Amino acid sequence: MTALTVPALARHKVRDGAAPLVMVTAYDAPGARVADAAGVDLILVGDSVAMVVLGYDDPLQLRTEDIAYHVAAVRRAGPAALVIGDLPWMSYHVSVEESVRNAALLVRAGATCVKLEGGRKRLRMIRAILDAEIPVMGHLGLTPQSTNAMGGFRVQAKDVDAARALVADAVALAEAGCCAIVLEGIPDVVADLVTASIDVPTIGIGAGAGCDGQVLVFHDLLGFEDRVRPKFVRRYAELGAAATEAIARYAADVRTGAFPTDAETYHVSAEVADRLRDG
Ligand code: KIV
Repeated sequence: MTALTVPALARHKVRDGAAPLVMVTAYDAPGARVADAAGVDLILVGDSVAMVVLGYDDPLQLRTEDIAYHVAAVRRAGPAALVIGDLPWMSYHVSVEESVRNAALLVRAGATCVKLEGGRKRLRMIRAILDAEIPVMGHLGLTPQSTNAMGGFRVQAKDVDAARALVADAVALAEAGCCAIVLEGIPDVVADLVTASIDVPTIGIGAGAGCDGQVLVFHDLLGFEDRVRPKFVRRYAELGAAATEAIARYAADVRTGAFPTDAETYHVSAEVADRLRDG
């Protein structure tokens, strides 16, 4: 598979005959290797790492250094897929300078592009990051970093005004130069409207089938995450249950003495063993 470049990503529209983009999150080298071997186009080192790996209920505790740590692990796997680093909450909210520095941290860790949440109110930061030659992916709709402001993880843009505002946000982000926009947790008709209104691809999660691509969280699609299961998550494996079953078999083998066997044990020659036993 030829690696996707940012300019090629920015031109990728299903209405022009392109196949839908496939994006999945990954947070470490084995996850990136698995995703890359499966042939995904994009790997997102998302701030969802806070919930699915680090045990938090929301992404608000993450710092840029945390995401950089995970981006570096993904990059060390050498994926062909384009790697996107998620800017965490408060890394692009305080000042333009801080935003650019934090975006650069993720690039130096191995990201080709950064993602950030929010619409027109983030344009100043987006333009500054783009001016530093760092590609930016937008993220609109249910933006998890706004969980407190939204009153929880709730579907967004359900009335006409909110839907129109979201379309205007998407147009502004695309015109500013974002190379793609993630649409999360919005009705399909709104996602379709956004997809038709902009020339860069939309990548949906809980936004229906009309986007230019789809993204799912690694632990959701593989069946590792059980605490929450939104209706847009399709599980393609039950690896959490398979892992529990495997570890339970290991525990039983240890307790019964069935593990380790002779073949799983290092030995010395009979002569060395005899001398050791004789003291
Ligand atoms: O952090 C993440 O995994 C995300 C995706 C849900 C788009 O932002």
